[in-house]
This record gives sequence, structure tokens and C-alpha cells, in this order.
Amino acid sequence: MTQPALPNDFDTIRTGYDENASRSLSLRADAYTQDKWWDADLRAVLARTWQWVCHVEKLRAPGSYVALQVAGQPIAVVRDREGVLRAFYNVCKHRAHELLSGEGVTSRIMCPYHAWVYKLDGQLVRAPETDHLEDFTPSDICLDAVQVEEFCGFIYVNLDPEASGLAAQSGDLETEIRHWAPDIDSLTFGRRLSYDIKSNWKNVIDNFLECYHCPTAHKDFCDLVDMDTYKVTTHGIYSSHMAEAGNGTNSAYDVSNATVRTHAVWWLWPTTCIMRYPGRSSIIILNVIPMGPDRTLETYDFFLETPEPDAMEIDAMRYLDEVLQVEDIGLVESVQRGMSTPAFTQGRIVSDPGGSGKSEHAVHHFHGLVLDAYAAIAEQTA
Ligand code: FES
Ligand SMILES: [Fe+2]
Repeated sequence: MTQPALPNDFDTIRTGYDENASRSLSLRADAYTQDKWWDADLRAVLARTWQWVCHVEKLRAPGSYVALQVAGQPIAVVRDREGVLRAFYNVCKHRAHELLSGEGVTSRIMCPYHAWVYKLDGQLVRAPETDHLEDFTPSDICLDAVQVEEFCGFIYVNLDPEASGLAAQSGDLETEIRHWAPDIDSLTFGRRLSYDIKSNWKNVIDNFLECYHCPTAHKDFCDLVDMDTYKVTTHGIYSSHMAEAGNGTNSAYDVSNATVRTHAVWWLWPTTCIMRYPGRSSIIILNVIPMGPDRTLETYDFFLETPEPDAMEIDAMRYLDEVLQVEDIGLVESVQRGMSTPAFTQGRIVSDPGGSGKSEHAVHHFHGLVLDAYAAIAEQTA
């Protein structure tokens, strides 16, 4: 049983962090390695923030559903017959069996254990053999609802009933994404790449948020985009990472026929990365799925103009899968091992006030959000 973080742990974990990135150290290694901070991540971050589910196309038809785990909890997202998007804990009110699995289309939700039946709005409508029960009114029983929102072409859920909406929290993010990807709602699923990484999820995010490592670790990437144009801006709960496609030949993939010339990437607190690479119109969603203190899953979903990728996209996927991901996974797994030694507590944030890609100010921004989230639960445990 994990001992939760105590009030003085919450003071210690802030040590070295400074609001000013030029004076700050990184988030302490304990937050990446200790069970009590994994427990804090689940409670303070993952159970209170907007988590990516899927593209709107998957939940467009009445009766369509997706079942998934969010912050370790079974959740079902459903489009009901009236067209209202709903999300529930995917847990039967009889004896807690999970209700829906995978994805599909259904007219009602029937529990596979004893066949209790719920409408798509979560209301129990039938419970076999219950006529003779005393004080039992099926219409009083309803699945536990979870917040769900359609935001900028995708569906997100939030386990915190008190959380404000994603559009309201994220400022200009939607305007920014739609500026670069006006066709985001009409793109269609093409392919998924999946990875299982031996690292804490925050190392995966840290690595995603800076291109300081690109010249040493991703030589091909530095040809694919023009590093001199790489600019990273932090805002509220997201950061924007923009660069122009390189003009010369490159060893990553051929972009000479690209209609989209800008590498436009957004990170949305805490675990969603939204990317538009040079090529045809597309959006790649990198969903970072924390599984434990030192284990993280990643899915890269490619949403394209057509379900079949074109030659340039096949090349881009091959580059991502066989080169870039191999490089990045090697980096974060090494960092996780290093953080687990007595030789490392925290290091200096390398920040450039000009906001270049070769700066770690977006990592510092992320660490500030993590520490704020920890502080919010510290007040409750004090
Ligand atoms: S657990 Fe669902 S009907 Fe019994
Ligand atoms: Fe990288």
C-alpha cells in the first residue's frame, strides 16, 4: 500500500523550482520515481484534467460508443439517440461488472453479467427477476456520469465533476489549431502506432516539450524542419511549437511535394500532443498514457485526408516509428534509469528568453503546472 505524500513532502517537492525559468531547476527526480508521487499524479493530475479519447468521427452516429481506461478507471463514452454526447463510469450498478468493451454501435447498454439494461443516457430500464424485490425502483438507478466535451475535432473526458470545460480552460488553443488545421473535423483515422516505455510519463512529456536535444539526438529531424524558425510559446494549459519545413533535401522523409509546409505542434496539459507535420493535411495525436511510476504507453493516431496514407505519409510513419521514436524512447528510458540513482536530484532548466525550440522553457512551464496540481491536493491533505 502506497503511503500518500504528506504535507511536508509537498513543500520539499517544490524545492529548486523558480517561477523564472532562467533561475529554475527542473522538477525533482522523486516526482518521477517514487510511488507517493505516482499516487499524487493519479489524484492531482490525471483524475482532474481533460484526457483525450478519440476523433469526433468515432462518436458521430447515434448509439456509437468507446470504452477505455482514463486515469486507471473504466470509462464509456456514448452518443445517445438524441445526439447528446455522454460519458459514464463503465461499471454496472448491480455488482460492478464492466458494461461496454471496445467500440461499436448499440441501441442500449446491457451488462454481460446478469443482463441489467441501461438506456444510452445511463438510466436503468430493465433488471431481470427483480419484480418481487422490496423498495427497488429501477428508474432511481443511473450510471455515474463523467464530464465529456467535444473540443476542436476530438472528444475528451474529465473525471473531476468540478472541473471547468476544456474550451474555457484552454484560451486561444482552438483558434490556433483551427488556423493551421481548418479541416480537423473532417480528417479520418488512418493508422495507429503504439509504444510501451519504461519511464515515468513526465519524462516522456519533458522530452516532447523541448528541441534542445534535437541537434544531438535527431539529426534527420533537424533537416526536416528549419531549426532557425523553431519557436515555442507557452500559454495557460498549453504550449505551441512551430517551425517551417526545411527547404533542402533531408534524410527523414521527402517533403518536396508537401502542401502543408509548417510543422505545427501543440501540447495540451497534461498528456495530449496534437501535431501537424509537413505533408498533406493531417493531424497526429500522441496520447501519453501513464501506467505506473516507471511505465508509460504511447499511441500515435494519424488522422488523414483519406483512410489510406499516401506515399509521403507512409514515409513519415516509417521515419517516426523506425527512427524518431527509437531515438526518443532510448532517451527517456535512459533518463528514467539516471533519475533512479543517488547521483541525480534535479538539473538546471536551460532557457532562452527568445523562446527558441532549443530551449527548455516549455518543460519549465509543464513543471509549474505539475507543482500547482500537487499544491491543490496538498491543501486538502493538510
Ligand atoms: S453486474 Fe451487471 S447485471 Fe449484475
Ligand atoms: Fe525527441
